[in-house]
Amino acid sequence: MKNLSSHISPNQIKTDKILDSTLRPESWDEYIGQTKIKKNLQIIIEAANKRNETPDHILFYGNAGLGKTTLAQLIAKEMNANIRVIAGPVIEKAGDLASILTNLTDGDILFIDEIHRLHRVVEEYLYPVMEDFKLNIILGKGPMAQTMELDIPKFTLIGATTKVALLSSPLRSRFGATFQLDFYTQEDIEKIIQRSAYVLNIEIKPEAIKFIAQHSRYTPRVANRLLKRIRDFAQVEENGIITKNISEKTLNFLEISEKGLEYGDRKILETLIKKFNGGPAGLQALAAATSEEEDAILDVYEPYLMQMGFIERTSRGRTATKLAYEYIGIKYDEKQQNLL
Ligand code: ADE
Repeated sequence: MKNLSSHISPNQIKTDKILDSTLRPESWDEYIGQTKIKKNLQIIIEAANKRNETPDHILFYGNAGLGKTTLAQLIAKEMNANIRVIAGPVIEKAGDLASILTNLTDGDILFIDEIHRLHRVVEEYLYPVMEDFKLNIILGKGPMAQTMELDIPKFTLIGATTKVALLSSPLRSRFGATFQLDFYTQEDIEKIIQRSAYVLNIEIKPEAIKFIAQHSRYTPRVANRLLKRIRDFAQVEENGIITKNISEKTLNFLEISEKGLEYGDRKILETLIKKFNGGPAGLQALAAATSEEEDAILDVYEPYLMQMGFIERTSRGRTATKLAYEYIGIKYDEKQQNLL
């Protein structure tokens, strides 16, 4: 089978992020799903507005593609605030942080994506900034070193991470509110596809909406990506209207199977079952055997495979479940599995 796992390569993720920005909801009314988080955020913003203060720092965590950046952008829109977006690892030194912070103005939002990858020193400089809007810069070294205190505009930090466990507890505790983004429901994904089709001016049949949603891994980013790919097929091979038939043909071509599993997912399940006898297999061993990066397994494949009940994580590693055997079409020997 040809390697089509590039649909979820890091490059693809970049393209998807651009795609996300054209389809991003512009107001709370347009935002679908995550009802509880939405309500919480609306209250935080409204209360801060009433007090004429900036809202508390906010942390979002959850799997890739569930809309952490979308929510941050929406908060900025609703607050009429400027938003500065930066990836955690890009801030290398205290000086980088100082330059970002001193360029903010009161009421701005600083969005730090992948905040778990902030350099440790930068993170430590951030603590007093988050608490008191003061940056203590150390000038010089040794006995001659001096501290300079810089006042920082009153901004709101929004952090986003796929790996909340990697955040140090001092950092985590400095966020006034923390929200976990969950997988969306099938119904919400259908609504998102319908909205995106409308925004992109695509005619789509109701059966196609349902079909695409069933293959979208309960993730808006995946739904929007599939919609665009199917639109290309519909335009080239048919009259541009998205039907269930053209959707099926496209997903077959992309080797996306039942429940939205892609080549990379199937490779992981097959490797676990065939090479590791169902597991347990450690992350490193699984990455080596599948030629996938450990991070891709952790961030892209595993969360969904676990959500769907195909793999389980134990203290000794990953194991394939009975469902995974059935999916791949290999007989599951319950007795032998229990012995393992
Ligand atoms: N596009 C991506 N995520 C969305 C959401 N939650 N609501 C509406 N459109 C979206």
